[in-house]
Amino acid sequence: MGAFAGKRIVLGVTGGIAAYKAAELSRLLVKAGATVDVVLTQAGSEFVGAMTFQSLTGRPVWQSLWDDRMSNGMAHIDLTRGAAAVLIAPATANVLAKLAYGVCDDLLSTLCLARDCPLLVAPAMNRQMWENPATQRNMVLLRHDGVKILGPATGDQACGEVGDGRMLEAEAIFDELYAFLQPKLLAGKRVLLTAGPTFEPIDPVRGLTNSSSGKMGFALAQACVEAGAEVTMVAGPVMLPTPHNVMRIDVQTSAQMREAVLKNLPGQDVFIGVAAVADYRPKTVSAEKIKKNGKSLTLLLEATDDILGEVATRLDAPLCVGFAAESQHLETYAESKRKAKKLALVVGNLVQDGLGGETNRVTLFDATGAYPLPPAKKIIVARGIVAHLASLMEKCDGKPYANH
Ligand code: CTP
Repeated sequence: MGAFAGKRIVLGVTGGIAAYKAAELSRLLVKAGATVDVVLTQAGSEFVGAMTFQSLTGRPVWQSLWDDRMSNGMAHIDLTRGAAAVLIAPATANVLAKLAYGVCDDLLSTLCLARDCPLLVAPAMNRQMWENPATQRNMVLLRHDGVKILGPATGDQACGEVGDGRMLEAEAIFDELYAFLQPKLLAGKRVLLTAGPTFEPIDPVRGLTNSSSGKMGFALAQACVEAGAEVTMVAGPVMLPTPHNVMRIDVQTSAQMREAVLKNLPGQDVFIGVAAVADYRPKTVSAEKIKKNGKSLTLLLEATDDILGEVATRLDAPLCVGFAAESQHLETYAESKRKAKKLALVVGNLVQDGLGGETNRVTLFDATGAYPLPPAKKIIVARGIVAHLASLMEKCDGKPYANH
């Protein structure tokens, strides 16, 4: 089933060169199962014709307040009733100004004023127009009114200038709209998670680490934000961009990770250990670079602290989730890890199914059984984990979480 199955999106297209990206956006939405009603302004139709959108969406395109195809003559009311959202992409400086002040002089601006669903806009304009105090003032008003602003991006502009103001790519807008429409299953909850590998130094230039990419942890942080949670992420050394609205704390070693987790633990509702934390570190770290002498070298290792185990056994423990990456006997190992560490939930996967890649196949283990999720992109798997997590929290019904 498509990500937008059963959802109707009103796509407003106004007059900017980025209107060509709206054609791709409408195609992506339709492919994902959405019903797309395009509302094209006069200026928008100067860039892309109505026939393009009609062909891509398989639906009539709306252009006029006075369109008599709607039997009651009220396209400005009927189009948004039952719609999941109105999305304007591209949104010119002109339409943003009209929306900020409630001007309704065409079908798109009038239906925005008359709508009863969320409004999202993807600004697209020359950088001077974007930076102009008038536009920035309008953006403040729109944000205040609860309008969700997507972008704009920075880069080359059609006019030859470079800067802020170009519209996000169609795929990025699609992803943001999808995230926006996710059910707010963790609204009001606070989530702390660890992600990525750790790096345990041997000397000033060398260390012990592992091949964790951090992608699953970052995807989970994003999925928790999408679900309405306030998210703090303690990340080992990875080069991934921080998901929007996630408070990120960068660390190197397992000891630094533990310290950051314990410092940020008070008040958290959930702790998720996604990081591949080193189980051992060099007992001593050489202050100077170790020189080779052609002979073998013995490193003495000591065990690190188990961060998740420590958090889960505290009296004030939040609901705790662990990860178990195994190369065999997934069910047995994951379930014994859940019991040994006293966790509410363990996300288990076979390393050959997910390590480093863009997709993952996981099984969720809680006190009631094992629940396999279908293999999918990591963000989709993360949303599945969040849905399961939210159902566990709901069962607690305000009582302290029983982690075992
Ligand atoms: N974890 C942690 N602190 C550690 C080690 C692991 O918080 N020092 C967390 C991980 O984030 C993950 C889970 O514990 O959620 C993994 O459990 P663990 O038993 O440590 O897994 P492995 O290190 O793979 O253990 P084993 O080698 O025994 O399979």
